[in-house]
Amino acid sequence: MSATTSSQAEVLLDVRDLSVAYGRIEALAGVSLRVHAGEIVTVIGPNGAGKSTLLNALMGALPPRGGEIRFAGEALPAGQIGARVARGLALVPEQRALFGSMSVLDNLELGAYRFLADAAQRRGQALEEVYELFPRLKERRHQAAATLSGGERQMLALGRALMGRPRLLMLDEPSLGLAPLIVHDIFRIIDTLRRRGVAILLVEQNARAALRLAQRGYVLELGRVVVEGEAHTLAGDPRIVEAYLGMGAHQDRLVA
Ligand SMILES: Nc1ncnc2c1ncn2[C@@H]1O[C@H](COP(=O)(O)OP(=O)(O)O)[C@@H](O)[C@H]1O
Ligand SMILES: [Mg+2]
Repeated sequence: MSATTSSQAEVLLDVRDLSVAYGRIEALAGVSLRVHAGEIVTVIGPNGAGKSTLLNALMGALPPRGGEIRFAGEALPAGQIGARVARGLALVPEQRALFGSMSVLDNLELGAYRFLADAAQRRGQALEEVYELFPRLKERRHQAAATLSGGERQMLALGRALMGRPRLLMLDEPSLGLAPLIVHDIFRIIDTLRRRGVAILLVEQNARAALRLAQRGYVLELGRVVVEGEAHTLAGDPRIVEAYLGMGAHQDRLVA
């Protein structure tokens, strides 16, 4: 494997042998992966592979049955979502989970609860940064979240996660249900975030677009990592081309 700048960078997230079960259903069976500071890592795989389970377990919302999660050199205890947010971890869940009757601005403010004890100035700064990335959210700041389009909701979910100033942003299928043009916008912003120093763990079924954006990738099938490597290597791997990038693959509908 060729040396990349990322292999010399700090290991931000270090997951070893992570297992998660729902009762007797083993959803993750010994998953190991790493994210370095400043890189985009994608986890691709079919429906039911365990991608959302992985992100929810990393965020502390699901108790692992085994394995270890280290973030910035420290073990993350089970549970304790707030402690993870405070350390710089953020998750944009698959369902986007906005508060529909609340305004765009109120949803964004909720993402800054990590800074409640700090000066309002710090929250204001985070807000300005989010508005700069998503001018549309500024225009619509007093509008109820429920009245936003699908793409705007994804922007709001992303913006809310960014209000906590994360070091690692985890995204669960941000392209799901969005038109190709909007997917393109969202992916462009994800790349901008990386260039500003936010590491990204991107879970996607849209393998083609995800491998184009990411530096490295993991393929998850039935709760196990079956292939991992540099994104451009994966994009040329015949097994992956056939299973995930083939002409008939449903991912093509979403390609930006
Ligand atoms: N709350 C749950 N209870 C029981 N089984 C679940 C639950 N959530 C997910 N699963 C199962 O765990 C496996 C992985 O699901 P998930 O992590 O949602 O996959 P993906 O995000 O890759 O589509 C699937 O077999 C799914 O049916
Ligand atoms: Mg999922």
